[in-house]
Amino acid sequence: MQKIAILCSGGDVSGMNAALKRFVEYTQAKGFMPYFIYDGFEGLIDNKIVRAKYSDVAGIITRGGTVIRSSRSERFMEKSYRLRAIDNLHSHDISSVIVLGGDGSFKGMQKLIQESNICFSGIPATIDNDIAGTEYCLGVDTALNIIKNAIDAVRDTASSFSRAFVIETMGRECGYLALVSALTGGVEMCLIPEIPYNLDNYKKRFMKEMKEGRSYFIAVVSEALKKSDMILEWFEKEIGMESRKVVLGHTQRGGNPTVNDRLMAYRFVTSAIDGLIAGERSSVVCYNDGGFSHKDIGEIAFEKYTICTDLLKLGMEYEK
Ligand code: F6P
Repeated sequence: MQKIAILCSGGDVSGMNAALKRFVEYTQAKGFMPYFIYDGFEGLIDNKIVRAKYSDVAGIITRGGTVIRSSRSERFMEKSYRLRAIDNLHSHDISSVIVLGGDGSFKGMQKLIQESNICFSGIPATIDNDIAGTEYCLGVDTALNIIKNAIDAVRDTASSFSRAFVIETMGRECGYLALVSALTGGVEMCLIPEIPYNLDNYKKRFMKEMKEGRSYFIAVVSEALKKSDMILEWFEKEIGMESRKVVLGHTQRGGNPTVNDRLMAYRFVTSAIDGLIAGERSSVVCYNDGGFSHKDIGEIAFEKYTICTDLLKLGMEYEK
């Protein structure tokens, strides 16, 4: 019986557990033997490879994080450790590995498959939504809902005082989380790396709105800019409003996965396994225009993700 393994790599996301559940169910339904690789690439190097059973995944669909844990592995970047990982896979007779992770993890796997006969399927899973070739990465919807709840809660307190709040969101170098959160949270300012901004324009707008009766502001600032403290000071000095900063940090990575992420987990995993069965060797499952496709890792690993134009246009309206 053919053996397929799965691992989680890089930042965890809500929805990974749903993906693991589907992995165990669907591999078995297709006549394969499922394996878990614990602790991401670190566990692959250290041979933490264990036969997965249905009892491992029963009841985990509601939980954020990943029951098989994740890691950011420096060692996997070194060939000697990758060769050890390949030996470990061979010793278990595993021919295919599914990786839930971001493009850094996929690049690592790309090297491994060039050095072996292992087949690989990548499932985009990062709250940053920054993988080229796919519109959606697992976990984004849950992260956006966490941020939405935080913004709504901050609005309650902001509107009870005359205060400005600077809310810093994750996203690494990508402003997607910040932009979508700003739009759906109805905030007054949105700063992301993809859109140039002019604080004088914001000042003109805010001063006018204050004259008309506005008493508080909420700004969403992407962590990529590293400017949250500067914007806080700007509100204090230039706008003349007492200010507070809220760094949402790792709260954005946890929590009960949304319906959308549970469903996307099922769909991504099903497509990954179907792809491996159909002979895909080195592909990433991509979601675009409502459907799934397999793109070769070489095609997307070194491309840069760009936020779609209509969203960027909406983001450009903030400053006006
Ligand atoms: O890539 C996901 C992410 O949560 C980024 O948004 C963030 O910059 C980074 O990981 C944080 O990494 P760590 O969990 O290693 O602190």
